[in-house]
Amino acid sequence: MKVRDLITIKDLSISDIEEIFALTAKLKSEGRISKDEPLKGKTLGLVFQKPSLRTKVSFVVAMAQLGGTAIYLAPEEVKLGEREAIKDVARTLSRYLDGIVARTFKHGDIIELAEYSTVPVINGLSDFSHPCQSLADLFTVKEKRGKLKGVRVAFVGDGNNVCNSLLMTSARLGADIAVATPKGYEPDKEVVKIALDFAGATGSKVTICTDPEKAAAGADVIYTDVWTSMGQEKERNKRLKVFKDFQINEKLCSKAKKDYIIMHCLPAHRGEEISDESLESPHSVVFDQAENRLHVEKAILLLLLK
Ligand code: CP
Ligand code: NVA
Repeated sequence: MKVRDLITIKDLSISDIEEIFALTAKLKSEGRISKDEPLKGKTLGLVFQKPSLRTKVSFVVAMAQLGGTAIYLAPEEVKLGEREAIKDVARTLSRYLDGIVARTFKHGDIIELAEYSTVPVINGLSDFSHPCQSLADLFTVKEKRGKLKGVRVAFVGDGNNVCNSLLMTSARLGADIAVATPKGYEPDKEVVKIALDFAGATGSKVTICTDPEKAAAGADVIYTDVWTSMGQEKERNKRLKVFKDFQINEKLCSKAKKDYIIMHCLPAHRGEEISDESLESPHSVVFDQAENRLHVEKAILLLLLK
């Protein structure tokens, strides 16, 4: 991989992602423990400003399975940019650690961490993007469909961090992507431009619309994420109203291909962005998707830290 950090999908070439996916498939087939302990003696720090289940546990387990160690630093311990300037945290941690996973509110905070760190920095979710998630997502789609080119992904809901990354990664890898959001909740404009640019090179079709049925029509994958992301809790009541017609449910899924799959980065709010029935349906692959976070992150760690 040509990059030192993993901050956003925009920085990765197609061959970087192919390298991640090839290593992911190898590691997944090899099982839980890498006998040669390729990251023995290495320590990863997790600096998180927001709660996490998947990202925290998968990175800690990934390090353990590769023979290394991980330290979780909870929001109240570090108080990034509050107890201490981000640039000081970055330079201090670089003296102890071999890599940092950061989960922040502001995307700029991860960029600043990376700027002042001398070790690789991995974005474990910011308000702008969630690259580890979308790499695991597209790896999962490839596993389920056997290819990515021409596969139709529909994202219905909020044009948020997860949507931004899914959009860039799909277009980068040649999958078609249709996003349906309420007016005013579209994905980031710059991200749409980048996705269109990638699509020009890969032949992917990018659609941004406000009609969930249009996005879902003939889809292979129906994807959603929460309507209210971490940090937006005050907007919850308003969002419940704005997004009410953007739920993934059996009616919406009836527009998709017969063998469609349902994806969700989790955590899910049943009865909001997805019905309980759809989340539990045989079409749902959400836990395979969650498992793949681990395998993809093992590959990322090996490529960046080894
Ligand atoms: N999908 C995801 O990143 O989950 P967590 O917020 O639990 O890490
Ligand atoms: N959009 C969600 C994703 C959580 C993994 C959030 O930012 O809260």
